[in-house]
Order: sequence, then C-alpha cells, then structure tokens
Amino acid sequence: MSCPSAGKAVGSGEGLIHSTGLQKPSSFQLDQLRRRRCVPAELFFLLRSQPVAKMPRVTVTRRLRFNAAHRVFNPAFSDAQNEATFGKCNNPNWHGHNYVLEVSVEGDIDEATGYVLDLARLRDIAEARIIDKVDHKNFNLDVAFMKGIIPTAENIVVQFWRILEPAVAPARLTKLVLRETENNYVEYTGN
Ligand code: NI
Repeated sequence: MSCPSAGKAVGSGEGLIHSTGLQKPSSFQLDQLRRRRCVPAELFFLLRSQPVAKMPRVTVTRRLRFNAAHRVFNPAFSDAQNEATFGKCNNPNWHGHNYVLEVSVEGDIDEATGYVLDLARLRDIAEARIIDKVDHKNFNLDVAFMKGIIPTAENIVVQFWRILEPAVAPARLTKLVLRETENNYVEYTGN
C-alpha cells in the first residue's frame, strides 16, 4: 500500500506533518501510517506520547451540616442479635448525630464565570434535595428515601449520591464524605 504523502518526504516527519495538515494525528491515522511504513518507529512513539491540549478540569467541594436521629438495627434480627451487632447504636429510644456532608463535583471551568459550578448553587441543590429532608429528622421514621434501609452512614451516603448525582449535571459528582462523629466518616465515589 502506498503512503498518502507519496512523492514527498516519505518516511520523514515532514511527510507525516504534511499529510496531516499540521494537526496532531489521531491514533487511527498513526496506525495507518505506521502500517504503510511512512513513520519511523521513533517518530511514531514520539507523536503518540504528545499530550493533547485539554480544558482544565477542577474539583470543587461544598460542606453542609445537619442534625438527625436514628436507630441502627435490623428488624429481621432478634433483640439479642441487634444488641450484639449494633451496640449503643441499637438504642430503641434513638440517638442523634451532628452530621457533616461534603459534596465534591468535577467539571470544566466555565470561561464566562470562571466556575466549575457556582458553590452557592451547589449548596442550594444539596439543601433542597438532601438537607431540608433530613435536618432535625429521624432517619428511621421521617425520611422517605431511607424507608426500609438500615440508616448506617454507609447506607445514608449511597442514598444521598443517588439523589445528588443527576442534580449537579453537567458537573460530575465525584465524591461524598459523610462525617457522623469526629472520628467516624464514610466516603462514596459512586462505585
Ligand atoms: Ni448513630
């Protein structure tokens, strides 16, 4: 098969640049050229390793706080099993936490605003969809999206993710951190 830049510097970098109109060739184009023996191996690997200019993507985070009560227990367990498994958190008369939620989203920087996502808007989204529904509430009794789910921090943060992920588009939700106590927190990245 002949080289597309036939008759002009075949096998040289000049020929390759000529053939691709000064644009960085795609992987497909490079593979084609290599098969046609137009590109010396050294140049091929050099071009393949050139970074492609791209928009900077930045992660921004908003912290929110709320207070809520819960009882961590499995209704399928006996009282003894719940006591053995969940200890103090199984207290039938509930107990509360001062939760801290950190919401991180990633996206391109908007040229007009310099923002990935206005953090005040991220706060508004998280407050309307999460905080207003859980603050000063009981996870076991008052929160519709936790119905039938054991309200551990792990289960809570997954439910938060399912609510927030579609709400922050076109930014991409990358991480939620839910702090239940000063020493205990969970992280979720959507996996
Ligand atoms: Ni607790």
